[in-house]
Amino acid sequence: MKVLITGGCGFIGSHVQDHYLRAGYEVVVVDNLSSGKKEFLNSLANFYQVDVRDFSSLERIFLKERPDIVNHHAAQISVVYSTRNPQEDAEINIKGLINVLDLSVKYSVKRFLFSSSGGAIYGNPIYLPCDEFHPVEPLSPYGVSKYSGELYVRYFHKNFGLDYAVLRYGNVFGPRQDPYGEAGVVAIFGLNMLQDKECFIFGDGNQERDFVYVEDVAKANLLLTEAILGKEREFNVGSGVGTSVNRLFNIMKDITGYKREPVYKEARKGEVYRVYLNTERIRRMGWSPSVSLEEGIRRTVEHIKQGN
Ligand SMILES: NC(=O)c1ccc[n+]([C@@H]2O[C@H](COP(=O)([O-])OP(=O)(O)OC[C@H]3O[C@@H](n4cnc5c(N)ncnc54)[C@H](O)[C@@H]3O)[C@@H](O)[C@H]2O)c1
Repeated sequence: MKVLITGGCGFIGSHVQDHYLRAGYEVVVVDNLSSGKKEFLNSLANFYQVDVRDFSSLERIFLKERPDIVNHHAAQISVVYSTRNPQEDAEINIKGLINVLDLSVKYSVKRFLFSSSGGAIYGNPIYLPCDEFHPVEPLSPYGVSKYSGELYVRYFHKNFGLDYAVLRYGNVFGPRQDPYGEAGVVAIFGLNMLQDKECFIFGDGNQERDFVYVEDVAKANLLLTEAILGKEREFNVGSGVGTSVNRLFNIMKDITGYKREPVYKEARKGEVYRVYLNTERIRRMGWSPSVSLEEGIRRTVEHIKQGN
């Protein structure tokens, strides 16, 4: 089986790539390297530096590689950037996705996997943990583009028979996450704590997130590539529990030996206050997270120490 992974040089996509290779898949990676890194590319993968907005270049890849599975991770991932540049967010996250969907139908792809966001599409939850039936009310253009993406995937399924699964991730963390961005709090705290720099918390720090380790997310991708699926095609992928940023800070402080207190700043616009996910649906498929928050943080900190 051959899988084409868009965004395969990114944080999550690169782990997904490694898991597919370990499971015996042939892997083709398409990435424009806007945030991804060539060094995350597995030497066994076939790589094309192409933008998902470039339909004709993408088509040449589909024609040559004829993938069985398409796993779409390429995206503009910043909530803050999306609030300032909603057009560009939509160009990449919606139009880029439509290109990949179009070609997946044209070249008879057997299953399409789409990475959505459980943290961004439900908005400020009316009940917790959010299950897949929770009303959708995104607070940012990023959340809107991710949920629009889901609707397009469903449209291509209903109208052209494209088989699919949607993964709605919580806050994914682990090695290879960019510590220099404005998202990815574990990577950012990790680097700042190891370098004895200030750590900023936006808001009062009681905001809660569902932290899930990247290897567990990669396993969920593999499971949903191979599982026999019924009507339920959207899956929350998270730990199922909320962890406040203050608690996260204290756990990381203990692990790194950091001595300072956090610096509190104004809450950021477009961000949800509390969200964590009901993961019963994917657990029924045989998935559960295997790496605890503490263990995941230890592994991430080790990687940052090694200059990941
Ligand atoms: N990190 C999280 O907690 C999280 C949570 C929910 C959903 N997601 C989704 O998971 C996916 C991967 O996120 P990530 O955290 O690994 O981010 P990332 O930025 O590390 O990965 C995105 C990858 O896509 C590539 N890319 C971006 N625009 C592209 C384009 N126009 N054409 C081709 N490649 C392009 C980047 O170079 C990068 O390699 C995204 O779809 C994101 O929306 C992530």
